[in-house]
Amino acid sequence: GAIGAAGLGLAAGTGSGAARETGEASAWTREHANNIELTDDLTAPVINENPDVISDDYWIWDTWPLRYRDGSIAKINGWQVVFSLTASKDLVPGARHNEATIRYFYSRNGHDWQEGGTALDDPLGHHQWAGSAMYDRSEDQIYHFYTPTSAEPEFRQRLALAKGATLETGPHGVEVVGEQEHILIGKADGELYQTLEQSREQGIVYAFRDPWYFQHPDTGEDMVVFEGNTPTAGENPDDPQSYNGNVGVARATNDELTEWELLPPNLEAIEVNQQLERPHYVFQNGKWYLFVLSHEFTFAPGLQGPDALYGFVSDSLYGDYEPLNGSGLVIANPEEASFQGYSWLAMPQGNDALVESFENFRGLDDTSRGEISLDEVGYLPPEEQKELFGGTLAPSLKLQLNGTETRVVNELNDGHFLPSGGSNGRGK
Ligand code: FRU
Repeated sequence: GAIGAAGLGLAAGTGSGAARETGEASAWTREHANNIELTDDLTAPVINENPDVISDDYWIWDTWPLRYRDGSIAKINGWQVVFSLTASKDLVPGARHNEATIRYFYSRNGHDWQEGGTALDDPLGHHQWAGSAMYDRSEDQIYHFYTPTSAEPEFRQRLALAKGATLETGPHGVEVVGEQEHILIGKADGELYQTLEQSREQGIVYAFRDPWYFQHPDTGEDMVVFEGNTPTAGENPDDPQSYNGNVGVARATNDELTEWELLPPNLEAIEVNQQLERPHYVFQNGKWYLFVLSHEFTFAPGLQGPDALYGFVSDSLYGDYEPLNGSGLVIANPEEASFQGYSWLAMPQGNDALVESFENFRGLDDTSRGEISLDEVGYLPPEEQKELFGGTLAPSLKLQLNGTETRVVNELNDGHFLPSGGSNGRGK
């Protein structure tokens, strides 16, 4: 409740009971991560051959639906719209990140997706990484949050917003139309959020990206969470301190959403993991379920965890985040296909969550089991690399949320993204 008025960020660490409200991060600890265990409840089923490929021309990976301001999935004149990172299938899968373009797809039934075009008109950055899209009904306007990124060797990342677009719908399809304005809404400040320069010695990967819009369920404020790193003293990849992933928070300071302030991260994984990717919320019965993705290769030395969806639950924005299922693990790839899926996105659906993701590398086993490893894929002939990569939507999963426990309950064969009818937000 008191969040709106407090001088956020500056009052952290005063030792008062209100410190969390003013911006102290919870920790994902080594102790939590040591509990990671792939049980049936926390493991996705193996994906069988998927005939429903979303695009013939483009690889698609990170995907997000158009949502209303309250977080519910938008259905506009019967159409659902999703946005995906895309790149030409002429490229080998590993080269796609540096050519990522956001395109949209639309559907009436949650499968049979049709290809629209590019979602952003003259966007910032050499290429664009993940984001989120909010449609304001009364303004008839899309607020598209995304990550402008620059090319090698820099990988500089910022947070941006495209305003001004809307949708034209007809009996046969959907078109994103309208003139767009692109606004830079955040960059790493070097104190709360590590800069690219500060990260160099640590020598792993760097993050300041993936803005995910949400309306604060209590105060109604317009906010984003994003993937960042906390500045730490680590000097090389062998130093656990170099692993400093966080969930960043920013808040709009005007109604036009053109002015934003960085707030302190609300979750940190120092000495645990370098990347807390695509953070996003599901609000359920007054609980804040915060989900992130992470990779096997970004766990700190001495820890092990799979490519998976991880999650935490709290009562408020800066509350005490408890790792779900004791460790944080929510949905892992099955051991016999450790890289089959990635970039899971959980969305509210009734009392459960619906989780979409994309098909990553199939048929790859974990290095430890002696099959071809993820690192080796890049050395295969291009056609073989492409053969191993999905690059399309994976079957969506249904996930039960019971307090601090979760369970994968089923795979939605009737829809690769959303079953028809869309899903519920918080009903505001
Ligand atoms: C997750 C991710 C995102 C980023 C994109 C880059 O799969 O790493 O954090 O925006 O992919 O391709």
